[in-house]
Amino acid sequence: MTGDTRSAPGSDQERTQLPAGFRLRHEPPTNAEYVRLRAISGLSPRTPEQAAGALSSSWAWTIVRSADGGLAAMGRVIGDGTWYFHLADVATDPAQQRRGLGRAVMEDLIACIDAAAPPDPYVTLLADPPGQHLYRSLGFVDSAPSLGMRLPR
Ligand SMILES: CC(C)(COP(=O)(O)OP(=O)(O)OC[C@H]1O[C@@H](n2cnc3c(N)ncnc32)[C@H](O)[C@@H]1OP(=O)(O)O)[C@@H](O)C(=O)NCCC(=O)NCCS
Repeated sequence: MTGDTRSAPGSDQERTQLPAGFRLRHEPPTNAEYVRLRAISGLSPRTPEQAAGALSSSWAWTIVRSADGGLAAMGRVIGDGTWYFHLADVATDPAQQRRGLGRAVMEDLIACIDAAAPPDPYVTLLADPPGQHLYRSLGFVDSAPSLGMRLPR
């Protein structure tokens, strides 16, 4: 990674129609917004210190703000910018779920990868149960025989 959050290619125009009043942006949320949305959406809690690198060093960020400016949904891509792209932190505020925001974030991030990467990028994610239907509907498949693994710490 470069150490700088890059702006996702293209404008902030929505590639997917959003409900009225919502706006898609190619920028990270604030630290406090990131920590809060992870917590209220049920993702494992992260500290402001952990959030700092996610916000500054991801390859791309896509967020959706509601009419009042609040953070409604987010997602990011960690990657080298040429072939390895890992989607993470896909979450929608529970009060705004099932309105197409998660799909809009995912479609936008995938379009950013497709627009920027050389042919045959390797696009991965670890799919928690709430996102599995969405990811499959976007074309994601099981990685078998490769198995996602983690090192507990
Ligand atoms: C996964 C998540 C981001 C989806 O956000 P969303 O804004 O509600 O998604 P959308 O409204 O765009 O819905 C996309 C599809 O997923 C389905 N879906 C949404 N939430 C779902 C859930 N909790 N369980 C199962 N399917 C779900 C929708 O029905 C929709 O399918 P359809 O288009 O065939 O009708 C959201 O449920 C969330 O934040 N969950 C908690 C955090 C999490 O687990 N994130 C995934 C980490 S890998």
